[in-house]
Amino acid sequence: MREKLINRAIKVLEDNFQDGGFTIPSKGLYPFQWKWDSGFIALGFAHYDLKKAKIEVETLLDAQWENGFIPHIVFHTDSDSYFPGPDFHQSNLHPQSSKKYRSTGMTQPPVMGFILERLLEIDKGSDKMLEFISKQIDKVYANHVYFYENRDWKNEGLIYIYHNWESGTDNSPMWDDIWLTMNPPEYEFERRDTSHVDASQRPSKREYDHYLYIIDVAKKYNYDDAKIAEHSPFLVLDPLFNSILIRSNEALIKLYGLLGGNDERIAYLKSKQQKSIQSLNAKLYNDELGAYVHFDLRNNRQIPYISSSSFTPLYSGAPDKEKAERLVKTMVQKFGGEDRYLCASFDPTHEKFNPRKYWRGPVWINMNWMLYHGLKRYGYDQLGQRVKNDSLELVKNNGFFEYFDSRKANPDAENSGYGGDNFSWSAALLIDFLKEES
Ligand code: GLC
Repeated sequence: MREKLINRAIKVLEDNFQDGGFTIPSKGLYPFQWKWDSGFIALGFAHYDLKKAKIEVETLLDAQWENGFIPHIVFHTDSDSYFPGPDFHQSNLHPQSSKKYRSTGMTQPPVMGFILERLLEIDKGSDKMLEFISKQIDKVYANHVYFYENRDWKNEGLIYIYHNWESGTDNSPMWDDIWLTMNPPEYEFERRDTSHVDASQRPSKREYDHYLYIIDVAKKYNYDDAKIAEHSPFLVLDPLFNSILIRSNEALIKLYGLLGGNDERIAYLKSKQQKSIQSLNAKLYNDELGAYVHFDLRNNRQIPYISSSSFTPLYSGAPDKEKAERLVKTMVQKFGGEDRYLCASFDPTHEKFNPRKYWRGPVWINMNWMLYHGLKRYGYDQLGQRVKNDSLELVKNNGFFEYFDSRKANPDAENSGYGGDNFSWSAALLIDFLKEES
């Protein structure tokens, strides 16, 4: 059974691997290379084809801009199955954008630090992998420096995102209050996503107008970070994004230590790390809710909603024991009923919860992977095991979908897998989960 499932997962990855040396998240729906997908995908490859794992990472980092920025989508090929494509994004407006690849002018969570660390673990600390890491690590470091030097608006160690797509949690209810502060024009365009996936599982047309408008604002300023920070209607500190940065800082510090001779870089990362952890706890923790929350910089207020992102600081190691205990309590009470799979992407007790709609409720395997490791880090082994088992069961019962219904008894559909099918990171992380035990 286990072997069969792994073989099916391998088939998903192999089918999605492209000649250009990258892997698409899902055929039709996502036909290019995505930043954080690439990292998770590399972990799946690493268990059976180290060469492909390395190529995936190399190709992504090859698309880095001169200022250290790594885009959220690299448009390696032409495809008309996706909107908005390169012609809409026009990232070449930025003077330091890649001359080699077309891309978007926005980014995604910086997973590559901890991905390199995990690759080394999977390859049992081999010299060959260390050598590979020594060739790639400075690019990942440059990406972190880019964030701290250009995206830390208040110089507090917290990085802002200027677009909901930068969070990776595209249509989370988190952004609803921000949409209310905007009134974008009605764009005329042809949606492509809804020709692949049922519209009830995707964002609305009006939500898309907001997404496109923010890009237009960034384009107006040629993707200049300082101007975006001043003018973007969307400017948010995301606990998920910042936790991932902190966890990747930690990995880079460790890897540079292993490589030797990088004292300056280590010192830089350590000083930023301290500040980031301090500010994450001071600014993004909400004591009343017992959870980390997003902070709307434009309107200077916390966004008091609980999502799976709220618990990802566990993975970063930032919370003290007491906060970790509170987080776990909140997770169990609100998300962890016996009738539910862990972990819904949005608070199931909230009126905005929607079990079928993308980031407004369904379970995502990459979030579960981070939560599993985070729970283990703090000694919550049993709950961590439940998150892992739930992930395995969801994939086993439904297939390699993009996201899953968290209700164990699902009255709406026979198959509780939604969104894109044969989705790469669901396959890759399933392999990582299963191989961890062998
Ligand atoms: C969706 C997800 C995002 C992911 C992308 C490609 O946009 O919200 O997190 O990176 O698909 O899989």
